[in-house]
Amino acid sequence: MASARIVDLLSQGQPGQTVVVRGWIRTARQLKEFTFVEVNDGSCLKGIQVVLGQELADYEMLAKQLDTGAAIAVEGQLVASPAKGQRVELQAASVEIVGGADPEQYPLQKKRHSFEFLRTIAHLRPRTNSLGAVMRVRNAAATAIHDFFQERGFLWVHTPIITASDCEGAGELFTVTNLDLDKLGQSQQAPDFEQDFFGKRAYLTVSGQLEAEIMGLGFSNVYTFGPTFRAENSNTSRHLAEFWMVEPETAFCDLGGDMDLAEAFLKFVFQRVSDRCSEDLEFFNQRIDSEVLNRAETILNNDFERVSYTDAIALLEKADRSFDYPVAWGIDLQSEHERYLAEEYFRKPLIVYDYPREIKALYMRLNDDQKTVAAMDVLAPGIGEIIGGSQREERLGVLKQRLAEANLPEENYWWYLDLWRYGSVPHAGFGLGFERLVQFITGMGNIRDVIPFPRTPQNAEF
Ligand code: 4AD
Ligand code: MG
Repeated sequence: MASARIVDLLSQGQPGQTVVVRGWIRTARQLKEFTFVEVNDGSCLKGIQVVLGQELADYEMLAKQLDTGAAIAVEGQLVASPAKGQRVELQAASVEIVGGADPEQYPLQKKRHSFEFLRTIAHLRPRTNSLGAVMRVRNAAATAIHDFFQERGFLWVHTPIITASDCEGAGELFTVTNLDLDKLGQSQQAPDFEQDFFGKRAYLTVSGQLEAEIMGLGFSNVYTFGPTFRAENSNTSRHLAEFWMVEPETAFCDLGGDMDLAEAFLKFVFQRVSDRCSEDLEFFNQRIDSEVLNRAETILNNDFERVSYTDAIALLEKADRSFDYPVAWGIDLQSEHERYLAEEYFRKPLIVYDYPREIKALYMRLNDDQKTVAAMDVLAPGIGEIIGGSQREERLGVLKQRLAEANLPEENYWWYLDLWRYGSVPHAGFGLGFERLVQFITGMGNIRDVIPFPRTPQNAEF
């Protein structure tokens, strides 16, 4: 018989129904005449309670193997549960231990483990409540992202991971190399990373934006959703070397339209995750951050504040507290500034726009004041920046002048410049860091705990 999903049984299973459940034992409690086992298949937070009675064949032998972590298959009948908080439980008729787990050695015990410890056993983290809830939220958020764009007619485009361009111009690139380890071993020579992608240089992409712009100028509304890589050696709770990014690009759109899209997008995703993962959000609210449910309410029921960079600096200068990094017009907002604005001043997400040109990427459209560019960042309470976007510089002359000012050779950007020679239009887009969104939704403090296999300067083991 095929296994039933435990989440379906708990919500819709009927007493009297015969089912098979397969999963892993979370807890086992032996009483005199029964053993209660909680079995979880990862479909929900709390598993199903299985009751094993003495009438079972081999009960004594079975009872000895019902260890936390063991995989079991149970066939039996659902019965109405007398226990609080669960509609049904499973009265076992036959039980098979599919894979045992030595209780002396299995690292996950009933007690709560620290997130630091769980990171060292990433291969067993999927068996924990916290990673279970995170993964279900990731899944709901990722599908909501696709639904949002699909419902609005955006084309999902697949942009390359291997690229020759440094989209953000920040020089935080990982090099790709077709290193021949055998040859290298013999020659003892250091590889020439500058030319090692079949004689050329290539990097892992930091952003799919430039390719999304190309696609947007043919398909009007597009988005990417894929992994991106940053070689920034920052050991913070919100940076990864490999993270997933969502990047919409809209033709015939200005910065105002881009901000509207970003706000509608975040609201849609929060609504969906609240609808589909209510049990998991309750868990985060109880165990991780008591603001999780309030935050979702705030997002859904309030307009985001919109503040120009210049006004944001004025607010920071007037703040009745000091910052480690001094505030002055022209600085890149630091995490402490972003968090003050989002958490203490506005107490909700805000969008800061029109940043100084010097601190932003070259592709951002120069404003008439010649001092600022049409950029916007969405700042979230608890996290800081979760979205960065802009209207793009679509005027060939201005872009050429900016390349010249930055001493960047035009030939390296020939295809990007060529794009604005034919049918150039105002267009805008943004990038959402998917893991930062998951942190924001769940309240998880460290970005390493919202991705199953975090890549950071210390960790690429799995
Ligand atoms: O602000 P960023 O660098 O913008 C871009 O890459 C643009 N090309 C996006 C666009 O307009 N299409 O990055 C966008 C977002 C940030 O707001 C942040 O949420 C996330 O990506 N991000 C990171 N997330 C995790 N770890 C890192 N090291 C990140 N760097 C950026
Ligand atoms: Mg940014």
